[in-house]
Amino acid sequence: MIDLRSDTCSRPTSAMRRAIADAEVGDDLFGDDPTVRELEAATAQLLGKEDAVYVPSGTMANQIAVRLHARPGEAVVTDPLAHVVTVEAASLAGLSGVTTIPVAHERGVYDADAVRAAFAPAHRFFPRTVGPPPAVVWAENTHNNGGGAVWPADRLAEIPAVAAERGLPSHLDGARLWHAALAVGTAESQLAAGFDTVSVCFSKALGAPVGSALAGPEQLVARARRYKQQLGGGFRQAGIIAAGALYALREHRPLLRRTHEMAARFAEQIATMPGIEIDPAHVATNIVRFELTDGDSGAFCERLHAAGVHMLPSGPRAVRAVFYLDIADEDVEPAAEAVRRVVTSAAAGSDPAG
Ligand SMILES: Cc1ncc(COP(=O)(O)O)c(C=O)c1O
Repeated sequence: MIDLRSDTCSRPTSAMRRAIADAEVGDDLFGDDPTVRELEAATAQLLGKEDAVYVPSGTMANQIAVRLHARPGEAVVTDPLAHVVTVEAASLAGLSGVTTIPVAHERGVYDADAVRAAFAPAHRFFPRTVGPPPAVVWAENTHNNGGGAVWPADRLAEIPAVAAERGLPSHLDGARLWHAALAVGTAESQLAAGFDTVSVCFSKALGAPVGSALAGPEQLVARARRYKQQLGGGFRQAGIIAAGALYALREHRPLLRRTHEMAARFAEQIATMPGIEIDPAHVATNIVRFELTDGDSGAFCERLHAAGVHMLPSGPRAVRAVFYLDIADEDVEPAAEAVRRVVTSAAAGSDPAG
C-alpha cells in the first residue's frame, strides 16, 4: 500500500527510535524534563520567539492560541477553509465560545485589504454593537485545505500589520511552516516575525510520533502553560516523545525538499490524465489536491485503495495526496499510474485491479 492520506502517517525511523530510547526524562509538569526543555528552547530559537511550549497536538496549540487571544463571544478573523475552522471538531465554539469572521481568500491565502473588508463597516450609521467583535487575525501557512498553498513572504507580513491597525494580535498556524520556509526560501523566524504567536507541528512530514509547539513572548507562553494544563495536556516524562520531535527538527527538517519534488512530479503526471483537474503550478509543497471532473471522491478513493494507493477525499469531487519522507521516489509513478487506471476504468465501468 502506498499511503498518501497524510504526512501524519509517517513512522519513526530506527535512528529516531534510538534517540527516543536514550532520552533523558524528568517530570515535565514540575518543569524538569530536560529533553522537553531542550525541544522548547530549540523551537523558540528557530521561530525567533522568546519561549515555546510543547503540547500533544497542533489542535491543542491552536486552541491554546484562541484562548490567549479571544474571549467568549469574540471572533477569530480568518479564511473559512482554515484548519481551526473546519477540522478541529468545532472547538472554537465548543471549548472557547468563539466564532469566526470569514476573510475572502484564494486557496487559503489573502491580503490586508481582504482583512479590512471582512470587518464590519466603521461608519456612524452602522451600529457598532451588532457584529462579532474581532479578537485575533489568523493565518495558516502552508494552507492544508488550500492544497499546501504557500503565502508569499511579503503578503504574510501584511497580516500582523493589518491586525495592529485595529489593535489586534495575530496568530500564525504554521503546522507545516517548515515547508513554507523551504518553498519561499525565507527562514521560519522571518515568516513568524510580527505574529504574536505561532504554532508548529513535529508530527507531520517532519516524522515525529507526537507533538506540536506554541511559541511567542515569555508572558504569553507562561499563560499558555496554564491553558495546556486546563485542556488536560499536562505531560509527565514527555522527554520520551520530545526526543522524537527534537530528532525530527534536527535531522528531518533539512530533508523536506524531496517531499516537495515528489508532490510536483505526481501533480505533473496526473495533470495530463482525462478526468483529473489540477494546475501543477499550484503545487508548492508536499500536498497535492486535485478534483475529479466526474464522479465522487469517496468512490474514487475506495477504488484507488483497492488498487493499492491510499488517498483522502477532501470535498465532494476533491482528493488529497500528501508526500512525506517514508514515501520512496519510486512510489510516485505507480501511485500516478493507479490514479490513471481508476479514472479510466471508472469511465469505462470496469475493474481497475483486474
Ligand atoms: C494547518 C494545520 N493546523 C493544525 C493541525 C492540527 O494538528 P493535529 O492533527 O496535531 O491536531 C493540522 C493537522 O493536519 C493542520 O494541517
